[in-house]
Amino acid sequence: MMLLFLKFLLSRLTLAGALLTAQPALAQRAPVPTPDDAAQARNWAAACFACHGPDGRAAPGSLPLAGMPASELEQAMRHFRTGARPATVMHQIAKGYTGEQVAAIARWFAAQHGQPAPAAGAATP
Ligand code: HEC
Repeated sequence: MMLLFLKFLLSRLTLAGALLTAQPALAQRAPVPTPDDAAQARNWAAACFACHGPDGRAAPGSLPLAGMPASELEQAMRHFRTGARPATVMHQIAKGYTGEQVAAIARWFAAQHGQPAPAAGAATP
C-alpha cells in the first residue's frame, strides 16, 4: 500500500517536473522570424497592399509592386528614405523599415511576378 502511494507521489512529481521543464520550450515556441521567412515577408508586404493593390497588383499606372525587380524596389525605398526621390507618403513609410526588412519585402514582391491577378471581389487571405 505504501509502495503504491509512493508510486503515485512519484508520478505526480514527474508530471510537475515535466511541466516545469516544458516552460522554457513554451517560451521559445514563437521564434523571432528571420527576414527569409516568407510568411513574415508577406506580412510586412501586406502593409503596402492598401495603396499598391492586393499582393501589390494595383492596376498598371497605379504603381503596382508585384513583379518589380527586387533591386529596383530596394533602390526606390533607399531614395525615399534619404529624400533623394520626391514623394508624398513614401518618405515616412520607407523610414519605418530596416534594410533587411526592405530586402525581404522586395524579394516577396519580385516573386509575385507572372501570377494571375486575383479575381475581382475575391477575398484576400
Ligand atoms: C498610403 C499609401 C501607401 C502605402 C501604404 C505604401 N505606398 Fe508606396 N507609394 C505610394 C505613393 C503615393 C507613391 C508615389 C510616391 C509618393 O508620392 O510617395 C508610392 C511609390 C512607391 C514605390 C515606387 C513605385 C514605382 O513604380 O516607382 C515603391 C517601390 C513603393 N511605393 C514601395 C512601397 C512599399 C514597399 C510599401 C510597403 C512597405 C509601400 N510602398 C506602401 C503610396 C503608398
